[in-house]
Amino acid sequence: MTRARARAGRAALGILGAGLLLVGPTGSACHHTTLPTAASSRTRTTTPIGVIEPPERFGLGRIPSEEEITAWDLDIRPDGQGLPDGSGSVEEGRRLYASRCARCHGTEGEGGPFDALVGHLPDGAFPFALDPRARRTIGTYWPWATTIFDYTRRAMPLDRPGSLDDDEVYALTAYLLHRNGLLPADATLDRDRLPRIVMPARDRFVPDDRKGGPEFR
Ligand code: HEC
Repeated sequence: MTRARARAGRAALGILGAGLLLVGPTGSACHHTTLPTAASSRTRTTTPIGVIEPPERFGLGRIPSEEEITAWDLDIRPDGQGLPDGSGSVEEGRRLYASRCARCHGTEGEGGPFDALVGHLPDGAFPFALDPRARRTIGTYWPWATTIFDYTRRAMPLDRPGSLDDDEVYALTAYLLHRNGLLPADATLDRDRLPRIVMPARDRFVPDDRKGGPEFR
């Protein structure tokens, strides 16, 4: 915005302000909301100064098309609801991972420069509440296998989200589960098989129904 336009804008605001002051019923310079008194509310028929009635409609936005809603309506539930058709194997995933993911997550998912996608803990170990340095990965922390599909499809690769088709996302999910020791090397995943995989952390999450009283730990 040029200086001249900025000045003109300020001047316009000034005039608007003056207009508001002029129409004040009491002539007072106060522009805060005036609550009607018992006497004035009997006689007044107009809205008190300072109270702005919103219009019926603001005239903003538009109704999205079916196509736009479908493109956003991607979420997949833990039980697999929302998973698309298609399938992909660990082997296909291995190749895709090398070309699309390894530069950010390490050759084998070990991490670097960004998050590690592979991790193992001794059976039954879940040190996260006590040790903030414990590494949260798919294998150690994620309770649902379907989240790998959901997350990868919507957000990865970081610099080109949405560029993978559904078969590729199944293949990458299969490869990541394999690297985490949760799927054999010759496995293939689809909408029926993926939700059946039990993640090591599945039973580590419970609904938090504490109310903040003495039971809060
Ligand atoms: C350009 C770098 C880049 C590429 C390429 C990339 N990622 Fe990522 N990825 C990231 C970053 C950064 C994060 C962390 C994002 C955050 O926490 O918001 C991440 C997070 C993730 C996570 C979640 C990790 C966790 O435990 O929270 C998964 C799963 C993942 N990426 C999978 C993939 C897959 C599969 C590919 C290949 C298709 C891929 N990424 C390619 C940068 C990348």
